[in-house]
Amino acid sequence: MPGVWSCAGAGMRHSVIVINGPNLNLLGTREPEIYGHLTLSDIEAMCKAHGESLDLEVHCLQSNSEGEMVTAIQDAKGRHGGVILNAAAYTHTSVALQDAILATGLPTVEVHLSNIFSREEFRHHSYISPVAAGVICGFGAKGYVLALDALAELID
Ligand code: DQA
Repeated sequence: MPGVWSCAGAGMRHSVIVINGPNLNLLGTREPEIYGHLTLSDIEAMCKAHGESLDLEVHCLQSNSEGEMVTAIQDAKGRHGGVILNAAAYTHTSVALQDAILATGLPTVEVHLSNIFSREEFRHHSYISPVAAGVICGFGAKGYVLALDALAELID
């Protein structure tokens, strides 16, 4: 299908997937003093619009299930040129997500709305960071835009 494949030739758009983890479906009402007032739909629309300006096709997925996120990362190989991942609480617990990223070899940008290093100690460790191309945290929803800019350069 034209426009989807990351390994496509000249003139074809790159595609990336933005994966959001557990409880991020509640954005807008979930602890807005930490995560802001935008809903997940707002953020996904922002990602798609910014993707357009970068000539990137942006696909979005949210799941509360670790297994579904692992499958989404596995499925990204061959379909997308890179991954933007806010694994939410699984960031701090999931060897399976780290293994999935390693298995695909796709460039992955880790995003967090909040600055995880200025919060509780258990949020300071990430299983994603050692295998991510880079980490953006603490800039709220703008972090996804910054991640798209970074990923666009990485997969170009
Ligand atoms: C988060 C930070 C995580 O520690 C937390 O569990 C989340 C959201 C963020 O975007 O700031 O659910 O990933």
